[in-house]
Amino acid sequence: MHEKYAPEGISPVERPAAATARACSNVALVKYWGKVDERGRVPATGSLSVTLGGLKTETTVAFSDRDGPDLVVLDGRSLGGREAARVASFLDLVREIAAVHGRPVGAASVRSVNYFPTAAGLASSASGFAALAGASLRAAGLGGSEDELATLARLGSASAARSVHGGFVELVPYMLESGAWNARTARVAAEGHWDLRVLVAVVDAGYKPIGSTPAMARTAATSPYYGGWLETWGADLADARDSIIARDLERLASVTEHSALKLHALTMTSRPPVQFLRGPSIETMHAVWDLRTSGTLCAFTADAGPNIKVLCSAADEERVRAALMSVQGVQSVRASAVGGPMEVVGHDVDPVAWRGASGEHEEPSQEAGDGE
Ligand code: DP6
Repeated sequence: MHEKYAPEGISPVERPAAATARACSNVALVKYWGKVDERGRVPATGSLSVTLGGLKTETTVAFSDRDGPDLVVLDGRSLGGREAARVASFLDLVREIAAVHGRPVGAASVRSVNYFPTAAGLASSASGFAALAGASLRAAGLGGSEDELATLARLGSASAARSVHGGFVELVPYMLESGAWNARTARVAAEGHWDLRVLVAVVDAGYKPIGSTPAMARTAATSPYYGGWLETWGADLADARDSIIARDLERLASVTEHSALKLHALTMTSRPPVQFLRGPSIETMHAVWDLRTSGTLCAFTADAGPNIKVLCSAADEERVRAALMSVQGVQSVRASAVGGPMEVVGHDVDPVAWRGASGEHEEPSQEAGDGE
């Protein structure tokens, strides 16, 4: 049991037949990369994200009273293998918390829909685990605060903790008196604070060399620059936080690109190397610098994949979109305004309607992207 990490303050509420939650994805402007505690998914560095209102996941969870394998359907496709195991081990944690509160639950049916093209590589473990945390806790007849839900979501995927709050959110590790590590989330500013846009330029969606979890373990073990990364995140985080509070896009642009480029320098200098960026990713970075040179304030960032995310003011959205679409290899551009917090949107869905007597699903199968 993850007692050491399980959020405190969770309390029993009426148990519904099923519960549905929606959460937005997020992109870190100051990146997390590396863990100080693998099992508790405690990041080694603090991070600060902006919530992506246009990239949402909706997840419905129902628990049966009987034990058995969990059924997890993502965009109409039944998950198997490692993907299913990761969800099942998260649900085990929820079951353990529920048992501690005298609410034992059995196997789960989970249906999750991404309201953005997973086939374009935009699948997000952040929105996925934030929505799963909200829906599964409620479906088990438990309630908790946003902070407690963020802690729970972090145990599925660290970046998911930030998606629970919405707006601009930081996630920072800290050491307990016992010497063990934990992390806390804090909303730096709500979604209404600053009308920014994040444009996702989708490039070469099909290819992903390695997932972020193993890639960051490799980086920590092998990149000679990892020490510098651990020493410099604090200054980046303070810089980004102050820029957001002051709505200073020029300053935020500088620290955003600096953090992203440090992350990619780390992965490239790992052994064996990990190169998430493709040719069009680099060309898109140049297009962003060209825009800046010609007076349009914007900044890029990139995660564990080839897509480039570009931050700009709402007023510049169309100009930036046009420039990104003109880069050879950019397949599509999807804009988001700053999104809000995870919400539990309903808890009256009849799970039989989608589980069916045989457990078969008739929804069309779709290629699922790997979370960036
Ligand atoms: C590059 O949160 O996906 O997007 O905690 O292992 O699930 P796990 O990793 P994940 O890593 C995100 C890394 C990043 C930077 C960030 O979001 O801070």
